[in-house]
Amino acid sequence: MASLRVRILVDNSAPLPTRLLAEYGFSALVEDLESGSTILFDTGSTGVALRHNLEALGVDASRVDYVVLSHRHYDHTGGLKAFLEMRGGKPVTVVAHESLFKPSYARIKALGGTLRDIGLPFTRGELEALGARFLLIRKPLKLTENITVSGEIPREWGPTHAWGMLRLEDGGLVEDDMRDDMALYIETSEGLLAITGCGHAGVENIVEYGLSLTSTKSLHGLIGGLHLLGAPRERMAAVVSYLGEKRPKLLAATHCTGPLVQGALAERLGSAYKLGGVDFTCEC
Ligand SMILES: [Fe+2]
Ligand SMILES: [Fe+2]
Repeated sequence: MASLRVRILVDNSAPLPTRLLAEYGFSALVEDLESGSTILFDTGSTGVALRHNLEALGVDASRVDYVVLSHRHYDHTGGLKAFLEMRGGKPVTVVAHESLFKPSYARIKALGGTLRDIGLPFTRGELEALGARFLLIRKPLKLTENITVSGEIPREWGPTHAWGMLRLEDGGLVEDDMRDDMALYIETSEGLLAITGCGHAGVENIVEYGLSLTSTKSLHGLIGGLHLLGAPRERMAAVVSYLGEKRPKLLAATHCTGPLVQGALAERLGSAYKLGGVDFTCEC
């Protein structure tokens, strides 16, 4: 019997016919059927898709126990206000990194190197007034017996995926290695299931840290973004090779992973590769 259900609520694409809406960003609903806990991981970029999709699926926002924000980028945090409004003021714990309210910038290559503010689009005060109770962390945090928020992910096993990310330091812009990027680690009977937002911490770091932090011995699956759109070709190949060797049973690399890597992963992993997109659901 399944003890866990993961459903992608917001993603860049809707690859299969669905009544759900897609928008740039990511959000997934994680239901721990054993403990009865429901976790909203990320919120998409505007709240339009999240609100529509929760309603279309008949999910009562007020029954969500925790919101977990993978990192501060707007395409993961921008739906938070709409989600809080859907709860009608009922308080909810929002787990996020300590840097959640720090500004974040990026030079978007595809937009001619334009500098854009890509951080959380709300103030702490306006979110708290709507019921957000922030639990800001750096260390791992266990939400249920089998589900842990990674906290800061050590960068011991591979490079980060943070091309073009900038933060403010002493009044100037410096490269940001996205220390705030966190993953959700789920211990299943078949191994580790990692859920990522953009995967800025780097896929080897996310997976290997998850394996060392939990009691799992192998990678069962990974769902979420890997931030490889526009990455150097050698890095794309290294990621495909690494994940191929891990032999996961389920890989839905989506959101900002990029079509080149998605195609290469599909070829390498065969039926273990899933299209992802809104409405993708798995149980384990
Ligand atoms: Fe993202
Ligand atoms: Fe991001």
